This record gives sequence, structure tokens and C-alpha cells, in this order.
Amino acid sequence: MKPVSNHVFSPESMMMSYGYKPELSEGAIKCPIFQTSTFVFKNAEEGKAFFEIAYGIREKRVNEELGLIYSRLNNPDLEILENRLCLWDKAEECAVFESGMSAITTVLLEFLKPGDLLLYSMPVYGGTDHFINTFLPKIGVDVLGFLPGMSEIEMKEVIQSSGKAERLAMIYIETPANPTNTIIDISACAKVANYYSTIDKQVLTAVDNTYMGPLWQHPLKHGADLVLYSATKYIGGHSDVIAGAVLGNSTLMKRVKTLRTFLGNMASPNTGWLLMRSLETLKVRMDQQAYNAQKVADFLLSHPKVAKVYYLGNIKKDTPEYAIYKKQYNSAGAMLSFDIFGGEKEAFAFLNNLKMIQLAVSLGSTESLAEHPASMTHAGIEESHRIELGITDSLIRLSIGVENFNDIIWDIEQALLSVDTGSEIELKMETVSIDSSCFSTKKFSVQS
Ligand SMILES: Cc1ncc(COP(=O)(O)O)c(C=O)c1O
Repeated sequence: MKPVSNHVFSPESMMMSYGYKPELSEGAIKCPIFQTSTFVFKNAEEGKAFFEIAYGIREKRVNEELGLIYSRLNNPDLEILENRLCLWDKAEECAVFESGMSAITTVLLEFLKPGDLLLYSMPVYGGTDHFINTFLPKIGVDVLGFLPGMSEIEMKEVIQSSGKAERLAMIYIETPANPTNTIIDISACAKVANYYSTIDKQVLTAVDNTYMGPLWQHPLKHGADLVLYSATKYIGGHSDVIAGAVLGNSTLMKRVKTLRTFLGNMASPNTGWLLMRSLETLKVRMDQQAYNAQKVADFLLSHPKVAKVYYLGNIKKDTPEYAIYKKQYNSAGAMLSFDIFGGEKEAFAFLNNLKMIQLAVSLGSTESLAEHPASMTHAGIEESHRIELGITDSLIRLSIGVENFNDIIWDIEQALLSVDTGSEIELKMETVSIDSSCFSTKKFSVQS
């Protein structure tokens, strides 16, 4: 891409070539896979200079760049990929990881220490929930969950009533939440974090933006300090790679990258190359997926065997959630969940009868996927807590792909047809404490 001064290209136009110099790779139009563990220095002085910067022994001189050292520290496939990812979120820096979980755990380990308090939104992805509730307490970090729909005042009350307010170090949120699609006001969380920040201590706001990919929600714009992705999902988008990413300002990212260097959980050159290839079609894939999801949601809403549809395009206009939706999202996305009338038996019958939609966990890929969160992605959450969060036995999660939407709807319709929900079966949700009333139902309301 040649430099121009009179036009700003959109990120989708930059994904094919930004940051790559063909003249450094024999003119190859695409960035090759730099499948190498180490890089040769021109001389010892150069090696010394690269290490001084890499290890923070001195600041970079004007126009000085960190040279290539060793693929655990840096590699062209990762650096070009990271520069391209920065364009979508308008971030100063990015670090890519070999999984979404390594991105998440590296952030939590770097910015939390024994004695700190972490406030996190519920529900979060099952793996994140496990790390927060099982691992962090083992190293002396106190964790406190909060439910979507809480105002700034209510969040502060939760923090104060814990008796550990002065130890708050981070607010970690997943919005929309996997799998319930509940949404949280990022700027309100950032304000709460700022309220508890002092001159000596910045309380950080970190957002897992996996559900929206880099297109449909930009947490940094709303005051978040760090944005995290499972790049396995929309960024990778083809169900053939596991990866993660973290983005933020240079000061925070320096810390994230340093811990990544020493944990050694960076992505491989091959993963970097695959993700760059995926980024070229990110926008067209995600546009099509969102278009299809709207059609599927409309269909589900009018189906007599479907009790409730959890989809951002289905949020009632007069609710506080709608105001957050309008402020924070560019699209309703391509993830939706629904409660089938009945329970696990009926949900399983639906899943077992799908013909084209694959029964698999993960999301954001070209093919449509269906799963049962209660017994699959969120099986590790203690049952009563899981039900409180709205992850009931009747909940089915769909990730909508790029297929023809008529085929997706045909498949859902025929699978629903084969389920006997019986007229006497009611959906029991009286123990659900999460407020899902913002999701409208066209024909049915949830029985209680
Ligand atoms: C919202 C969310 N965050 C993080 C992860 C973890 O990502 P990975 O599987 O790439 O480690 C997942 C995985 O499903 C997820 O759905």
C-alpha cells in the first residue's frame, strides 16, 4: 500500500496489504510465513541494541524500531497482523496469543496481584468463569460478580458492600455476554473504574469483545482500557485456528507483551499468517452473518415451539438496554440464543435433528453452529449459579454463518418440527435472576 496524504482508507481496504513491504520478501504479494525461531543480527552491536529495547533497558531513540530477535518476542507475521488489528479498534498496540484464554489469563495475571479485588460481569465465557472463580482466589485475588442491568450507583454499592473497595484493581466485562446476549454499558463501567482510581493506582476496565468481533463494538471508544478477543471466532472465522488478541494503549500493552514473552504464549507464525488471511474477508463475512442472523431471529420469534429469543436486534425499544445498544453497537451481530419450550430433552432433540447446522461449540465462523450451553460451554458452572444467570436447560445457542439464510431457516424449521414440546410443558424460569425482560417476545412470554 503506497502512502497517500489526501485519503483515509477504511480498515477493510487496508487488510490486504497494510504494514507489509513486498520488497523485503522477494516481491511476494502476500506476507510469507516466517517459519523461523530466530533472526540473524547484522553485527553484535545491532543484537545488543535490539535487546536493550526489548528488555526496556533504554527507551527507543527517534525513528528507532525494535528489530527482529526471536519468534517468542517478535516475528513479522505477528507484527503485521497486530498492526492490522489495531486499525479496527483504533488501538495503539496489539498482542496476539495462541488462544483467547491465553489473552484473557495474561491480562488478569499481569494486572491483578494477591489482595486485589476483581469485579466481573456475569455471565462470562465458561473458561473465563473457571479461571476467575477457581484460579484467581488460589493466588489471593478476591472476585466479585455483578449482574447486567446494574446502574453505576448499584455497581458502587456492590463494591462498597464487599468491604474491599479500596482494593479494586479491575472491572472485567463480557458484553454481549456468552450465551445470554445480555449487554453492559462500557462507559458506565469505565466511570466506576475511574471513581476508584487514585494517583497511585489506575483501576482498569477490560472488555472481552469476542461476541462482536472487531467490527460491531469498539470498547476503547467507550472508555475501556483493554479489549480482548478470542481470535478463534470472527477474526479467524473459519474454524481452523485457535488464537487470541489484546489491544490497548502502549503503556498497558508493553506490560501485556512483556508477560507474554515470559509466559511464552504468543501465537505462532503460522497462526499469524492464517489470521492475516482471514482478516481480508472479515468485513464481508461479518456483514453476511449479521444479515442472516436477523432473518433467523425473525423466524424464531414467530415459531410456536420457541419461548424466547435472545438477540440484540430484538431488544425492546423502551428499555435502558436499548439505549446501551444504540450507543455501543453498530450491528445486532450474528449470535443468538433461544429457549425452546421444555428442557434438556427438547433442546437435545432439536440439536440432534439438525441437518446442515453443525452441532459444535465455538462461534463466529463461516458455518452455522448450534450448541447447548448448560451441558457444553458452560457445563463447568455450578448448576444453581448457571440457572440464576439464565443458562437454563432449554437454552440453545446459535452462531449464524454465511450460508444462504433460507437453508439455515429450513434446517431450524425441520429440526423444530421433530421436537415434541407437548402442550403441557412450560418453561420454568422462576429461579432466573438475570433480567431478560428487555428481549421482546412476539407471541409468547416466558411462563413463570
Ligand atoms: C466470549 C469468549 N471469550 C473467550 C473465549 C476463549 O477463547 P479460546 O477458545 O480461543 O481460548 C471464548 C471461547 O469460546 C469465548 O466465547
